[in-house]
Amino acid sequence: MSKVAALQSSFHLLFFFVIFLCLVNTIFSGVTSSFTRSEWPAVDIPLDSKEFAVPNNQNAPQQVHITQGDYDGKAVIVSWVTNTGPGSSEVLYGKSQNKYDHGAQGKSTNYTFFDYKSGYIHHCLLDGLEHDTKYYYKIGTGDSAREFWFQTPPEINPDAPYTFGIIGDLGQTYNSLSTLEHYMQSGGQTVLFVGDLSYADRYECNNGTRWDSWGRFVERSVAYQPWIWTAGNHEIEYRPDLGEVSTFKPFLHRHATPYEASQSSSPLWYAIRRASAHIIVLSSYSPFVVYTPQWHWLRDELKRVDREKTPWLIVLMHAPLYNSNEGHYMEGESMRVAFESWFVHYKVDVIFAGHVHAYERSYRISNINYNITSGSRYPVPDKSAPVYITVGDGGNQEGLAVRFSEVQPDYSAFREASYGHSTLELKNRTHAFYRWNRNDDGKQVPTDNVIFHNQYW
Ligand SMILES: *[C@@H]1O[C@H](CO)[C@@H](O)[C@H](O)[C@H]1NC(C)=O
Ligand SMILES: *[C@@H]1O[C@H](CO)[C@@H](O)[C@H](O)[C@H]1NC(C)=O
Ligand SMILES: *[C@@H]1O[C@H](CO)[C@@H](O)[C@H](O)[C@H]1NC(C)=O
Ligand SMILES: *[C@@H]1O[C@H](CO)[C@@H](O)[C@H](O)[C@H]1NC(C)=O
Ligand SMILES: [Fe+2]
Repeated sequence: MSKVAALQSSFHLLFFFVIFLCLVNTIFSGVTSSFTRSEWPAVDIPLDSKEFAVPNNQNAPQQVHITQGDYDGKAVIVSWVTNTGPGSSEVLYGKSQNKYDHGAQGKSTNYTFFDYKSGYIHHCLLDGLEHDTKYYYKIGTGDSAREFWFQTPPEINPDAPYTFGIIGDLGQTYNSLSTLEHYMQSGGQTVLFVGDLSYADRYECNNGTRWDSWGRFVERSVAYQPWIWTAGNHEIEYRPDLGEVSTFKPFLHRHATPYEASQSSSPLWYAIRRASAHIIVLSSYSPFVVYTPQWHWLRDELKRVDREKTPWLIVLMHAPLYNSNEGHYMEGESMRVAFESWFVHYKVDVIFAGHVHAYERSYRISNINYNITSGSRYPVPDKSAPVYITVGDGGNQEGLAVRFSEVQPDYSAFREASYGHSTLELKNRTHAFYRWNRNDDGKQVPTDNVIFHNQYW
């Protein structure tokens, strides 16, 4: 071969190698967004701010919040707090405003946490509602009464369209406010909340005052549409130094969940069905290894999922199973080992988590072939696997998790450290439009758009 020919063929080789590299790149590697927020200090909203305003009248209901009250969306749990006296736990409701032809009697509870004494926390179940109907409801008495409304979901149906919002790690800073306001303009009908609510445990003396302010802060949304609660690490509040040795005490007093309707033994893990979705809520901070109650329950609940009726199978948890941020790296690993093979076997569509204060979406990958002796250590593309999405970017006082691992792992499709929320718009049994929206200083910017094709249909 002449020198020229040799040179030519090595050029060819190089050329093909470069083309090959480019292909590999477009097929396998994800995007690390270069967007940088212009300002992201995590500044708490002061307690005397209008965002936390207490209703004027004597002992008026405050911190009003609702959640689904049964398995299929025909019941709602209404919760609220009265501060100066037990007041009434009754809810009046009906299908037209000012005409409350139904009534339901709830119960009240209260708790102490170190030197903090809670108000009277009321929970009332409205049962036997009609699907797809707007209900008005009234709580409190006389001049202190307050009125709200909510819309029940359509009947369980594989093609029932429905839009969920996804919010995590919200807290109560100006960034939290921005996230909440953007979410409220998004058209979301129910929030899937992936844990870490008020961050009250971060304030002086572990003071429950910040639970109360958070309740008033989110009321603008959660009094009118259900938020589905997942517990995060900031809900644990295990404080032996303050003599508080039980776990999840404030969270469990304040937030009821319909766990009995899905045969769960704990309010911290449960399932609901809504429109065309079956939603499973897990607790990252309760026992989940083999033979524990949560493990038994999940095994049985997955068998109850009927994709002919609810094609969309969604799982919520706080600590992500896949996360390439340096913050909280691999904290979800033990739950991955416990449950990932089930998630793949049952073809879960998407798993939402929070905890890491940034946004990240994975490809469909699994690591179920790994065992401690096999040596197949890396996640591989897997069509049956869920997409893993971390939405821990609600905007709490701890700020953003800005350090992603230097090389973006193959499993990571998109990641960005900014605040925001997601929406999941279920169109019919085959298609869902998913979007992550960045809070860009006043504007809502749809940043990560994906169409999900259902994993069953
Ligand atoms: C709850 O309220 C009742 C009635 O006012 C009161 O007697 C009780 O001490 C309170 N319990 C706690 C734990 O604060
Ligand atoms: C809780 O904190 C708030 C604000 O810092 C303060 O006004 C209040 O007295 C505290 N209450 C308790 C019981 O420590
Ligand atoms: C571990 O993985 C290897 C390779 O996939 C497999 O052959 C082996 O049976 C696994 N070991 C156990 C105990 O499952
Ligand atoms: C489902 O929704 C998608 C997206 O809107 C649409 O393209 C598709 O035709 C729909 N399928 C059916 C069967 O209606
Ligand atoms: Fe967390």
